[in-house]
Amino acid sequence: MYCLWQTFIFSAVILSGVKAGEITEDSYFYGESPPVYPSPQMPGTGTWAAANAKAIALVSQMTLEERSNITVGYSTDTGCGGFTGSAPRLNWPGLCLSDAGNGVRNTDLVNGWPSGVHVGASWNRNLTHQRALQMGGEFKKKGVNIALGPVVGPLGRVAEGGRNWEGFSNDPYLCGQLAGETVAGIEDAGVIATVKHFIANEQETNRLPDGNVTSISSNIDDKTMHELYLWPFADAVHAGAAAVMCSYNRLNNSYSCQNSKALNGLLKTELGFEGFVVSDWGAQQTGLSSAEAGLDVVMPSSVFWGVSGGNLTAAVNNGSLPESRVTDMATRLVASWYQMGQDQGFPAGGIGMPADLTVPHEAVDARDPASKTILLNGALEGHVLVKNTNKTLPFNKPKVLSIFGYDAQAPPDLNPTPPGVLGGFALGYESQLLETWSPFASGIVTQTAPNGTFFTGGGSGACTPAYISAPFDALQEQAYQDDTTLFWDFISGDPLVNPISDACLVFINAFASEGEDRGGLHDDFSDGIVLNVAKNCSNTIVVLHNAGVRLVDQWIEHPNVTAVIFAHLPGQDSGRALVQLLYGVQSPSGKLPYTVAKNESDYNADPDLPEGEFSLFPQSNFSEGVFIDYRYFDKKNLTPRYEFGFGLTYTTFQYSNLTVEVVGNTSYYPAGPVISGGLAGLWDVVAKASVIVENTGSVEAAEVAQLYVYVDSVKQLRGFSKVNIPVGGRVTVEFDLLRRDLSQWDVENQSWVLPAGSYEVLVGSSSRDLPIQAELVIEN
Ligand SMILES: *[C@@H]1O[C@H](CO)[C@@H](O)[C@H](O)[C@H]1NC(C)=O
Ligand SMILES: *[C@@H]1O[C@H](CO)[C@@H](O)[C@H](O)[C@H]1NC(C)=O
Ligand SMILES: *[C@@H]1O[C@H](CO)[C@@H](O)[C@H](O)[C@H]1NC(C)=O
Ligand SMILES: *[C@@H]1O[C@H](CO)[C@@H](O)[C@H](O)[C@H]1NC(C)=O
Ligand SMILES: *[C@@H]1O[C@H](CO)[C@@H](O)[C@H](O)[C@H]1NC(C)=O
Ligand SMILES: *[C@@H]1O[C@H](CO)[C@@H](O)[C@H](O)[C@H]1NC(C)=O
Ligand SMILES: *[C@@H]1O[C@H](CO)[C@@H](O)[C@H](O)[C@H]1NC(C)=O
Ligand SMILES: *[C@@H]1O[C@H](CO)[C@@H](O)[C@H](O)[C@H]1NC(C)=O
Ligand SMILES: *[C@@H]1O[C@H](CO)[C@@H](O)[C@H](O)[C@H]1NC(C)=O
Ligand SMILES: *[C@@H]1O[C@H](CO)[C@@H](O)[C@H](O)[C@H]1NC(C)=O
Ligand SMILES: *[C@@H]1O[C@H](CO)[C@@H](O)[C@H](O)[C@H]1NC(C)=O
Ligand SMILES: *[C@@H]1O[C@H](CO)[C@@H](O)[C@H](O)[C@H]1NC(C)=O
Repeated sequence: MYCLWQTFIFSAVILSGVKAGEITEDSYFYGESPPVYPSPQMPGTGTWAAANAKAIALVSQMTLEERSNITVGYSTDTGCGGFTGSAPRLNWPGLCLSDAGNGVRNTDLVNGWPSGVHVGASWNRNLTHQRALQMGGEFKKKGVNIALGPVVGPLGRVAEGGRNWEGFSNDPYLCGQLAGETVAGIEDAGVIATVKHFIANEQETNRLPDGNVTSISSNIDDKTMHELYLWPFADAVHAGAAAVMCSYNRLNNSYSCQNSKALNGLLKTELGFEGFVVSDWGAQQTGLSSAEAGLDVVMPSSVFWGVSGGNLTAAVNNGSLPESRVTDMATRLVASWYQMGQDQGFPAGGIGMPADLTVPHEAVDARDPASKTILLNGALEGHVLVKNTNKTLPFNKPKVLSIFGYDAQAPPDLNPTPPGVLGGFALGYESQLLETWSPFASGIVTQTAPNGTFFTGGGSGACTPAYISAPFDALQEQAYQDDTTLFWDFISGDPLVNPISDACLVFINAFASEGEDRGGLHDDFSDGIVLNVAKNCSNTIVVLHNAGVRLVDQWIEHPNVTAVIFAHLPGQDSGRALVQLLYGVQSPSGKLPYTVAKNESDYNADPDLPEGEFSLFPQSNFSEGVFIDYRYFDKKNLTPRYEFGFGLTYTTFQYSNLTVEVVGNTSYYPAGPVISGGLAGLWDVVAKASVIVENTGSVEAAEVAQLYVYVDSVKQLRGFSKVNIPVGGRVTVEFDLLRRDLSQWDVENQSWVLPAGSYEVLVGSSSRDLPIQAELVIEN
């Protein structure tokens, strides 16, 4: 199939004989995405049955005008990013939607949570669930019915992707596990989680149509779609996701919000999705086509469905759209509201959350006192220690510390600014980042946020902190406790170093934002600071706040660079968490949720551009198939600088006694029926594994035990468990392997299949440190 697909792509290019810019008609691409009609009605099965019945009862009382009305967005003077229409006659309030996956955005009295990539680096399901429950509680207290997160697309195909940091990991299993926990946590708090962006929104470059140039088309074969990009969406739907946001890009040259194969086929039929599909802001490109393809709600308003959804009503009345489709749109939306219990005592939409924070408004504190430990643990666990020569860390009451780099201190402002600034990115900190990061800014600042510590990426996924504990703030406090003398210089690229410094800390960052892909994976200005400090300081420790992959080869082998921490995007407790790790109050426990290469050129995908005959229809052919990140490095036998799953701590662990056994039905095909997430049988436990992990060092620490399986000859993460182990302690770690974890997508049969045979299972502490293996024999 993979070969057929390539033939298809290239024959279209070569055999048609078209010249540069010659393809001017969208019709050239018709048929590339197979038609799947009609749009399936909400199934209303399982845990959704009661909400479905209540929704049918309410929607049946709505006129066609009322049903059409609730499918479109209305302008609002609240801070809600969108507001659906309402049905006042029936006391149905209309729903507030707000960004995003890392906390309530653009308001006051909320927490700034660690970002998706930081959560990914924690590899901690339980903590991920607690974070989501807290975030959900904050959305609810502000009267937000629909939280616009979590992100599982982009998955991270392109290392420079501007939004990769919003998601958890470019491994679909890790991403899917944490997405499932996040959906469950947000929805446990009574708020609708919106999994986004569906699907294959893998680059920011040309994500939107621009003049007569369409948005980028992600061209993906069916096997790759199932085994990689759709995988985490299936976990999220299985966890009960009530909303899915369709994306800006095209998919096989058909816009994602009108792609019937994706929405009607993959999502609503194969995954049995019960909730509603909402457009990304402005992502709707057609009227009836999008309705028929399975789009249910349009944001922030719809020129195509018209004021009050009047064009939907007209289309039903003139016979060009079945009324049942509009009824289903309304039912899916109203059922999601019932499913979350929002019919009972939900706060008024957007309460205490004005669009303009400079106007007088009610103070609504959305924070739960219990959030404090979760914020701190969340910040702690996403830090990944990758180098620690001669146990330079943890510190023990150093006499003299020198602190360098633009990323050490708090940003100079965190102001409320009027709405509409910079396309609606309203908080001062964010807009400052966007200004300074702009690709039009000259020289050194292009890839960095140069005006203060970086704790969230930019754009709609940016979190809004209640305060910022910057590294320098926390180091000052610790210096007071320990009688340490500090020196610092956050301005110079070649600072003076006091030669009696016990250590020099260098803080740099790697910026990313929605709307633009990154200009590279390292920058000379930041690397220069590290090198300049290292030449004068034999104990140079680098802390890197990175929104995605950041290369370190420019200095990693420098003998004076003794420790390095990928600090990711920790949210508002950044400095407090870092200092606990630097001083050994806590042992590091994060692992890289992506591969760090030695060089940019080691990665196999860059953002694609409009070019050649496709200059009006930019194409991105996912011809590498499932081989992104570590799968690609393994296939090509490339040595990364730091492999996927890698991370050090202050102790050592030993693995032993791996057992694997079949415990369930191992028939070739999974059994039905379709439940939320796919065929029920896919979620059955078919095998179990266990392993003993021992802490053989001298401090207590947590280990992330990782299990990989060769499925279809590709080594893939299929289990992980984070366990805290005291000194000398031995813990038995158990892994459940679901049928889907061992299955592969059979294009011919359009089904997941579990071929009989011997499956190699490998367990250890990273994707390349897998000291013990076992065979799992599957018989059909
Ligand atoms: C995209 O095209 C490929 C190749 O024809 C096909 O296998 C796949 O199912 C299509 N996917 C969508 C969503 O159109
Ligand atoms: C449609 O929704 C708007 C916004 O909530 C509301 O003002 C209007 O009354 C609704 N129309 C109908 C027909 O219910
Ligand atoms: C998750 O963490 C909470 C708080 O630390 C704890 O009470 C709970 O038992 C944990 N759950 C699991 C499954 O580890
Ligand atoms: C596309 O738009 C540009 C700029 O508006 C224009 O110069 C060009 O002729 C257009 N090309 C086509 C094929 O429409
Ligand atoms: C939809 O309705 C609006 C008025 O509400 C109208 O301006 C627009 O042209 C219509 N669009 C389509 C595609 O019918
Ligand atoms: C039916 O109404 C829709 C929406 O106003 C319009 O786009 C479409 O052209 C109409 N079709 C016919 C056959 O009148
Ligand atoms: C680490 O310590 C050993 C023993 O003290 C010493 O020989 C070695 O040079 C040190 N390595 C570095 C990189 O400082
Ligand atoms: C941010 O940093 C840049 C580059 O150092 C500087 O030009 C700019 O004035 C700074 N902006 C603020 C708000 O401090
Ligand atoms: C730093 O290193 C440079 C080059 O080795 C040297 O010229 C300079 O004097 C050193 N001094 C200080 C204070 O850092
Ligand atoms: C390491 O630091 C020491 C002390 O400042 C310095 O003398 C030495 O030249 C540095 N090494 C390198 C390779 O720069
Ligand atoms: C990365 O590769 C490019 C050429 O592909 C080379 O110019 C550059 O020096 C390499 N960088 C590193 C750090 O190896
Ligand atoms: C682990 O394996 C070793 C060596 O095979 C064996 O001696 C030991 O009893 C096993 N431990 C457990 C808890 O099964």
